[in-house]
Amino acid sequence: MTALQRLLLNSTAVVLTVTGALFAWMKYFMTTDDPFAVANHPWQPYMLDVHVIVAPIALFVIGVVWATHVKPKHESGTKPRRKTGLVALWAIAPMVLSAYFMQVLTNERLVEAMRVIHWVSSAIFVAGLLAHQLVRMNGNGAAKSGAVAEDRGVW
Ligand code: HEM
Ligand code: HEM
Repeated sequence: MTALQRLLLNSTAVVLTVTGALFAWMKYFMTTDDPFAVANHPWQPYMLDVHVIVAPIALFVIGVVWATHVKPKHESGTKPRRKTGLVALWAIAPMVLSAYFMQVLTNERLVEAMRVIHWVSSAIFVAGLLAHQLVRMNGNGAAKSGAVAEDRGVW
């Protein structure tokens, strides 16, 4: 993984977390006096706009990091940071699939279920990604056994 890939991965994750959390807070925890309002806060729709625009960029970056980092680390059996890496890894599919099913399903109970899956899996992904970069197992993470040369890609 190059420094640019790490920067893009972390910055899109931050934007998604902030916009997702603020959107949910406005939607579920704020109220409005206006009986005709469709949102509880004027910024609520913009939070969702930014979230939904940044989401495919994040997905693209995850795809690049998949090839340059996740797959080589996973296949080589690298031990340092494996647990936290796997936590982030396993959360990706439910996080992404629930997001898109939330938009295309029409049955309200299924949409509600997708929302819950999205909240939980995205929280797990972010926590895993954070722990993955903060927790350095055995003190020096990469330098210990199992460190593998990465295909750093072009950017
Ligand atoms: C690549 C990853 C992600 C994708 C593709 C994605 C995509 C989406 C989409 C399409 C929606 C549906 C918007 C709608 O209601 O029309 C959504 C909603 C939401 N997302 Fe994400 N998102 C991602 C990551 C995250 C992260 C990291 C967080 C927070 C940690 C998050 C939190 C939320 C929340 C709270 C909602 C609102 C759900 C509701 O209406 O209750 N998402 N996301
Ligand atoms: C089996 C799964 C994984 C293993 C064994 C693993 C292992 C590692 C190791 C050993 C490091 C320390 C630096 C290095 O050696 O390159 C690292 C750093 C990192 N990993 Fe993972 N990883 C896994 C999955 C993931 C996933 C799924 C993501 C995110 C989508 C991710 C994102 C990162 C980031 C952002 C860093 C910091 C980058 C850096 O310091 O250059 N990893 N990982």
